[in-house]
Amino acid sequence: MNKLRVGVFASGSGSNLQSIIDQSMAGKINAEVTVVISNNSKAGALERAARHGIPHYHISVKQFATEWQYVQKLLDVLQEHQVQLVALAGYMKMMPIAVIREYKDKMINVHPALLPDFGGKGMYGHFVHEAVLAGGRAVSGATIHLVDEEYDQGPIVAQRSVPVKSDDTPETLAARVLTVEHELYPEVIQLFALGRIKVIDRKVIIN
Ligand code: GRF
Repeated sequence: MNKLRVGVFASGSGSNLQSIIDQSMAGKINAEVTVVISNNSKAGALERAARHGIPHYHISVKQFATEWQYVQKLLDVLQEHQVQLVALAGYMKMMPIAVIREYKDKMINVHPALLPDFGGKGMYGHFVHEAVLAGGRAVSGATIHLVDEEYDQGPIVAQRSVPVKSDDTPETLAARVLTVEHELYPEVIQLFALGRIKVIDRKVIIN
């Protein structure tokens, strides 16, 4: 069975990327990361890709005279590597609408909270965990959702919760959530690889 070809966008350390690579190399998921793209030339994710011999690109809108040339570059690279599923893993830039449309129902993102709570503008990294703690929640967790034109409001594919502990800091909560991100992301990619994900009227059906 051909492996699902996954293109990963990441801006940071790339620990989610690493968990996908590890599961792929262990044969646990029928998918392979065929390209890694970052807006940050110093992203750990690019180093991880290099270590694994995975084609990787620093692509930033600042490199282009026009937004359209930037969009075209993203689409060209994704097409060149025959990407079938786009996975945003700690990607801090807005994905251009043209790319979101090109990968309709084939672009997913991980968010370190149980959407729709604690999502949307400004809700990223430690801000998310600070808000969860300030909200006195007993549970938090990770969400994998489809990326559509409403961004963090895309249809949810999967979620996994973790307890919030009374002595948690944003850092200790982030670390606990990250462990379930690393579990959940490869599991969701496998569902796509097995063709088990359908999207009907903005609802995800897993069969
Ligand atoms: C994760 O916490 C993810 O939820 C958020 O950015 C972080 C990415 O971390 N979107 P890494 O680069 O995968 O280590």
